[in-house]
Amino acid sequence: MTPDAEDPRELVRRGWDRVSKIYRPPERADVDAFGHPRSEYATWLAPILGSVGTGGAALDLGCGCGIPTCEILAQKFQVTGVDLSDVQIERARRRLPGVRFLREDMSQVRFPPGAFAVVVSLYAIIHLPVANHLPLFRKIHRWLRPGGWFLAILGESAYTGTDPDWMGWGAPMYWSHADGDTSDRWLRTSGFEVVHRSYVPEGEGGHALFLARKPGAGTLGPPRAVERKHRRGQPAPEPL
Ligand SMILES: C[S@@+](CC[C@H](N)C(=O)[O-])C[C@H]1O[C@@H](n2cnc3c(N)ncnc32)[C@H](O)[C@@H]1O
Repeated sequence: MTPDAEDPRELVRRGWDRVSKIYRPPERADVDAFGHPRSEYATWLAPILGSVGTGGAALDLGCGCGIPTCEILAQKFQVTGVDLSDVQIERARRRLPGVRFLREDMSQVRFPPGAFAVVVSLYAIIHLPVANHLPLFRKIHRWLRPGGWFLAILGESAYTGTDPDWMGWGAPMYWSHADGDTSDRWLRTSGFEVVHRSYVPEGEGGHALFLARKPGAGTLGPPRAVERKHRRGQPAPEPL
């Protein structure tokens, strides 16, 4: 058995080392290889930026090369970016010297309780073995202060598998995720209030976008305003 077959995270790490500059080329990192522009990320992040005061701490799990999420968050927050890939973290450090980047596995990294006002993870938890998702949601809940936000793009349908040559880019890749309803349940089981869920299309498929909040005294902004903002332009999202 190869090391890749034994440890999907090693496969993911080496895969992202290989495809980092194909997914977000240095000269046009604002658009990913699937056509998601920076403006779409800005729309997803806008309710958080609008609801939380300046100067708090934000965490981006699976931050990639730091563009655009960490860069947008850094307008308002002290940002920590975590990524498994050496190449992604190296690029991120060069692009955003004011941001703290950690080359860590998001399921192993440790932070103190209540360390963050905001945790974001876009298109990244889908690469983590699905058995780790609920434990990670519980940790994220602990890392947030009361009233803190968790914004995530997760799987819409359940899938676990490997592609030996993803997109013909010369690297294997692994994904593992539950369907959206299961992720929704796991978020609530972890203690979150899910204030918004919508479908983010991509080619013939798509992903599930969640905005969840840790209840508590420090509640940040009205959920209805968040929902309205998020739903603008989205294809038939179902508010929960
Ligand atoms: C599709 S990219 C998304 C990057 C960025 N969030 C974005 O939206 O542009 C997925 C990223 O998640 C990272 N990743 C995957 N599994 C991870 C893990 N267990 N811990 C930390 N990062 C991980 C990969 O290295 C890769 O940079």
